[in-house]
Amino acid sequence: MAYGLLKGKRGIISGALDEKSIAWKVALKAKEEGATFTLTNAPIAMRMGAIKQLAEQCEAEIIPADATSTEDLENLYNKSTDILGGKVDFVLHSIGMSPNIRKGRQYTDLNYEWFKQSLDVSAMSLHKMLQTAYKLDAINEWGSVVALSYMAAQRTFGFYSDMGDAKALLESITRSFGYQYGRYRKVRVNTVSQSPTVTTAGSGIGGFDKFFDFAEATAPLGNASAEQCADYVVTLFSDLTRMVTMQNLFHDGGFSMTGASEEVVQAFLESRQNA
Ligand SMILES: NC(=O)c1ccc[n+]([C@@H]2O[C@H](COP(=O)([O-])OP(=O)(O)OC[C@H]3O[C@@H](n4cnc5c(N)ncnc54)[C@H](O)[C@@H]3O)[C@@H](O)[C@H]2O)c1
Repeated sequence: MAYGLLKGKRGIISGALDEKSIAWKVALKAKEEGATFTLTNAPIAMRMGAIKQLAEQCEAEIIPADATSTEDLENLYNKSTDILGGKVDFVLHSIGMSPNIRKGRQYTDLNYEWFKQSLDVSAMSLHKMLQTAYKLDAINEWGSVVALSYMAAQRTFGFYSDMGDAKALLESITRSFGYQYGRYRKVRVNTVSQSPTVTTAGSGIGGFDKFFDFAEATAPLGNASAEQCADYVVTLFSDLTRMVTMQNLFHDGGFSMTGASEEVVQAFLESRQNA
């Protein structure tokens, strides 16, 4: 059911790689809620071709941009404002990548060049997106920027390796830039800390399947899906959440506030009895 929450709003949505991507679902939902927007992803992701299908569905233009390149980002904002006919009202940062995770490097054996890439792509890119928009004054007053995070920013999950540090930086940039952008143009900046979700980035993490089940059994509401995440993100782009900024907002079915669920404790006791 659509509510017209984004009627008349213009935006930029990054990170839609394929139909499993959280950004893909956000794009469909934003369209349904009345927004017009451009889509962007790293030039390399264009080769996969799937984004073109989404662009057709959303009647959106695609502007390739490597989120680590301020030049690409300047071009992204300039072209988006031209195409959309004015400054944007919302921006989605849905970007993450760790070469250390991809190549199976343990946290105690990180390759530091790759570590820098993880931080640059997954966290500093948010600063670059915000700073570029700030300098170009490309976001309207009361605009909204949302980035996707994960709870490993606050608590350690062994398998998440250097992405935990990247997410901690991402959330810190959200607070620091949120303060500046709030004062400058009343633009709000928040992160949504999402449940484990079956996507290319999510499933690329070693042990993801087992952890997905553990989180499902721990959270009283179960894991939040990508579609449900899109619903939440759309409310943050809307005028209904104008006074929410600099926050990390958990969207995880209650996982982050649960110490141990009865289901998980029971399974643990049974496995010990059967050992
Ligand atoms: N899947 C999960 O379990 C989960 C949970 C919490 C948070 N998140 C976060 O959600 C966001 C989206 O991930 P997803 O799960 O939809 O996976 P995904 O693989 O579909 O999306 C990641 C996107 O990042 C893009 N990207 C990588 N390097 C880039 C660069 N240099 N410039 C521009 N784009 C680049 C990729 O092309 C891809 O579209 C990420 O920040 C991820 O950390 C995911």
